[in-house]
Amino acid sequence: MNTQEILEKQQKYLWPSHLTYYKEPLPFARGEGMHLYDVEGNKYLDCFGGILTISVGHCHPKVTAALTRQIETLVHTSTLYPHENPVLLAEKLAELTPGKLQKSFFLNSGTEANEAAIMLAKQATGSQEVIALRHGYSGRSALTMTLCGQSGWRIGGTHVAGIKHAIAPYCYRCAFKLKYPDCGMACAKDIEELIRTTTSGRVAAFLAEPILGVGGYIVPPPEYYEIAVEIVRKYGGVFICDEVQTALGRTGKYWFGIEHWGVEPEIMTMAKGIANGSPLGVTIATPEIADSLQGLTISTFGGNPVSCAAALATLEVIQEESPPEHVHEVGDHLRQGLEELYKKYPIIGDVRGKGLMQAVEIVRDRDSKEPALDAVAALFEATRKMGLILGKGGLYGNALRIAPPLIATKDDMDQALEIFDYALAEVLD
Ligand SMILES: Cc1ncc(COP(=O)(O)O)c(C=O)c1O
Repeated sequence: MNTQEILEKQQKYLWPSHLTYYKEPLPFARGEGMHLYDVEGNKYLDCFGGILTISVGHCHPKVTAALTRQIETLVHTSTLYPHENPVLLAEKLAELTPGKLQKSFFLNSGTEANEAAIMLAKQATGSQEVIALRHGYSGRSALTMTLCGQSGWRIGGTHVAGIKHAIAPYCYRCAFKLKYPDCGMACAKDIEELIRTTTSGRVAAFLAEPILGVGGYIVPPPEYYEIAVEIVRKYGGVFICDEVQTALGRTGKYWFGIEHWGVEPEIMTMAKGIANGSPLGVTIATPEIADSLQGLTISTFGGNPVSCAAALATLEVIQEESPPEHVHEVGDHLRQGLEELYKKYPIIGDVRGKGLMQAVEIVRDRDSKEPALDAVAALFEATRKMGLILGKGGLYGNALRIAPPLIATKDDMDQALEIFDYALAEVLD
């Protein structure tokens, strides 16, 4: 099918059909490594990796081989019957994750993983109230939409009771109009005030992303998590770390984003890049928390042998080809290039991120920080024309997200930076 035929059927048979970064939606036909090819055969350097799902590149031969082997052997039996793939994957995750995290429950998405995490935290603590973050994103079920701290993602005014949103550690647009480090970490300390004034005084959990992904790669200051989590524990809650975007080396140096902050969560969720594009979600918890579950819970497709085979192969490839040290090095290179562009183009208001998870905020000027949405739209058209795929995020939709597959090289990043430079020049012309 050509582009037009796909678009006509999309409009007629799919909803929502308007979610696209471009004036004209962009249907892809094929992917290989760092590259995507549209249905007309045009080639693109992929710096958004299927919204951070493609950890080790499109159609990595080792992942494809593992998937094929499993599909030819046994596709599914359900979680009622144990299978070696989920067991091996859970063992591997227990080895890699920080602290005492050990027991995994497999699902199909980040939304489900966060749902399970909240259920578990409520069971373990006997409390019902949950603290989430403004600017955070947690998924698309009623509960996880309520956890979101962005109005656009809370469709229909969704409201599940008992969720309170703390001020985000968003230094570039500090809600207190303070500057780090003179701020004294007011945002983290305000969580105590939030709990004491808006809850019963006992909370089940604090759910937060180490780097707020959909929020536009907001990176909390180094002290943030230690202060925030200590307060939450004081009021009986556990820390649920949402690593749906940040897990498995994405942020460089470490396997998990939260390791940059040196805090050990009681529960962690993962999805997206764990199986290189196959659907898989994980809620991993300490044995004490995991074993507190009462009653029955099941995910029919969760932890199916095929997705787990893909995840096992993906982990192996990350270890062999793009371990956290590689991501740190290439991410640093990308960051330096973005800092150079910051010096050149005043419409770049902020550069932030870790590893291969970097963002720039596009603003009218650095004093007003007003989001420049027309420039963002023009940048997307220009980069598309020049063969570069970027992501978008942030409450205002003005954060460009650059998150290529972890196998990206410095040369790939130089190419992306060069295109981005040309695009910025074209838009400002
Ligand atoms: C941090 C975070 N948590 C949860 C989710 C929800 O994951 P899914 O779309 O797989 O349900 C997302 C998706 O973007 C996410 O970025």
